[in-house]
Amino acid sequence: MVVTGTQPAPTHVLAHLSDMHLIAGEGLLHGHIDTAAQFRKALARVEESGEQLDALVLSGDLTDFGQLEAYRLVRDIVEPVIDRLGVPVVLTGGNHDDRRALALGLHGVDTDDPQDAVTTVNGLRLVTLDSALPGFHHGGFTDRQYAWLADVLAEPAEHGTILVMHHPPITYRSPLMQLIDFEDVPRLRAALEGSDVRAILSGHLHVTSFGTLGAIPVFVAGGVSYVDDAGAPRELLMGVDGPQSWNLIEVHRDHVVGTVVPVERHKTWPALNEAVVEYIATVAVEDQRTVFSTKR
Ligand SMILES: [Fe+2]
Ligand SMILES: [Fe+2]
Repeated sequence: MVVTGTQPAPTHVLAHLSDMHLIAGEGLLHGHIDTAAQFRKALARVEESGEQLDALVLSGDLTDFGQLEAYRLVRDIVEPVIDRLGVPVVLTGGNHDDRRALALGLHGVDTDDPQDAVTTVNGLRLVTLDSALPGFHHGGFTDRQYAWLADVLAEPAEHGTILVMHHPPITYRSPLMQLIDFEDVPRLRAALEGSDVRAILSGHLHVTSFGTLGAIPVFVAGGVSYVDDAGAPRELLMGVDGPQSWNLIEVHRDHVVGTVVPVERHKTWPALNEAVVEYIATVAVEDQRTVFSTKR
């Protein structure tokens, strides 16, 4: 017998990581952060979670300066992980990325075009759209990208669509970050109205945030490299070495759930849950709630 809970398992599970800001060579980002080590640590946590993933999602700012060697580092770090997990990686660029270097380093093509793509995993469609506007830190989509998106979304997917874009289309708490936000949110909102888009996965803020675009939930992963201190006054951008995290996205038939997973392993104590799980597993499934929930 096993512990099954009371709800059906999600139909799809995604590991959503953002803002790795990898740099070529040995240096530390801002003199403080070993970004490659952070990325490796985050991926180790993804693997240790034991989740049966459908895809690994990386939502931009893969590198800090857009160096070609930094994209090779992305590939070298990611490839063995997705091989072991047996899942595709779904990625897009951010304002710190360089379109040409990203295209060359990760897709093997020599172009300045955004590498927008559709990846369908077990009936769930993951659409990546590069929201970085070359030469700027704020984001947006070109007319061509909106037309491409409309074309893709014209046909609904079996389990709907998840849109992955670096700049989250929500109002940022930080006035400085508002200066580099996603332009023309109403246009995107209108473009997605009536579509099968069920969630938007973003990064950029270096703070875990949640919001909505119309009726569509927006999940912002807080950053693998460093985090902006959300406890500081909103006028300040205070980078801190922690609490870095990624989001576990669970897609159910009629809803989507996001759970924040810390990159750091925190101190724990002998696991009560092992004994409890062992015991509950001996109880008939229909009696498990009563046994576990009843206060003693
Ligand atoms: Fe970033
Ligand atoms: Fe960014």
